[in-house]
Amino acid sequence: MTSIRRDFLWGAATAPHQVEGNNTLSDWWAREARMPGAEPSGDAVDHYHRYPEDMRLLADAGLNAYRFGVEWARVEPRPGQISRAELAHYRRMIDTAIGYGLTPVVTLHHFSSPRWFAERGGWLADEAIEHFRSYADTVTSILDGVEWVATLNEPNMLAMMTMLAAAMQRGDAAQWQSPTVKGATQVLLPVPDPSIGRRFVEAHHAVRDIVRERTGANVGWTVANQAFTAAPGGEQKLAEVRHDWEDLYLEAARGDDFIGVQSYSSQQVGPNGIIPYPPHPDNTMVGTSYRPDALGIAVRHAWGATGGVPVLVTENGIAVADDTRRIAYTAEALQHLYQAIDEGVDVRGYLHWSALDNFEWGHWEPKFGLIAVDRETFQRHPKPSLAWLGNIAKTGKLR
Ligand code: FCB
Repeated sequence: MTSIRRDFLWGAATAPHQVEGNNTLSDWWAREARMPGAEPSGDAVDHYHRYPEDMRLLADAGLNAYRFGVEWARVEPRPGQISRAELAHYRRMIDTAIGYGLTPVVTLHHFSSPRWFAERGGWLADEAIEHFRSYADTVTSILDGVEWVATLNEPNMLAMMTMLAAAMQRGDAAQWQSPTVKGATQVLLPVPDPSIGRRFVEAHHAVRDIVRERTGANVGWTVANQAFTAAPGGEQKLAEVRHDWEDLYLEAARGDDFIGVQSYSSQQVGPNGIIPYPPHPDNTMVGTSYRPDALGIAVRHAWGATGGVPVLVTENGIAVADDTRRIAYTAEALQHLYQAIDEGVDVRGYLHWSALDNFEWGHWEPKFGLIAVDRETFQRHPKPSLAWLGNIAKTGKLR
């Protein structure tokens, strides 16, 4: 039988822009208005006001951890101007989580930046890292008692978004589709430019040092793991693609306290590059293949590429309307995770994406949540998968 740690984190995750609502000072708010075919985030699911209820639902189900983020645009609405009220808001979230017995896992940056930051050239500007460092420094003032901090969420996806934002700036807006929803018309995503990736590595290391200096938290970052495998003849290309897509970011985590693994699906690499997800009736609402085994591939690869940095699964989930499929997918994914633990990978926890159905970067259609939300009344409707995952959390036993 797999033995998991007594302090194993069992939880769910969200990102501020996807759930809070009215994040009007962020670059994403502006972008939604310009992205072809995008829906606005609007009130989102009003998590900004309703987080106590949401946390209570997670805790009542049996979970012991909650990953959420701090929204930079709220904390620093203008360069150097800090909102004490917003800092106090996020401190209340931390206290509320702890009060419910949920270990907070706090993300400092989850895709969205302040609008002023974007207008000054975003991540490509000379002062970008200094701006991020100074914001992170401010946030450390509210992190007392927080044991887990993620600096940047998915820097590899963020590199790609940065490239697309630059294309949009040049008037090439037709390229802008949701970064995560692979609709029939979606162009293949550009390979994240390693020179942008290296800026994120620098930003991550700078902020990691500050968090370590000022807090007692474990610090790391989270990577969008692709669980790439080679199609016949694709072995050499696989190494190349893997480097630019993820190994650059995984190798930069050597020396971190944990590596956040985020896994949804798996993709093949052929001699000419990444092979698009083949059409299949089981494909998810974001167009990816149904691949619960991806989590095992991702966790093993992250463990190897980081040289044995402890793994925290910071996201794993599936966009499906039918909740029984979510349970089936997650049950299988957890079996693969347990196999990796049996093989000796040091896994510290599993945080499901997502606590709530939410704003999937331009789209409301994909359903990733353990809890459904009526977007007019904001009423919460926990799905059977929430109680199901909570039961696993209580015993650690998969059946
Ligand atoms: C990840 C993001 C998260 C969500 C899931 C589905 O890439 O970190 O915000 O969009 O995918």
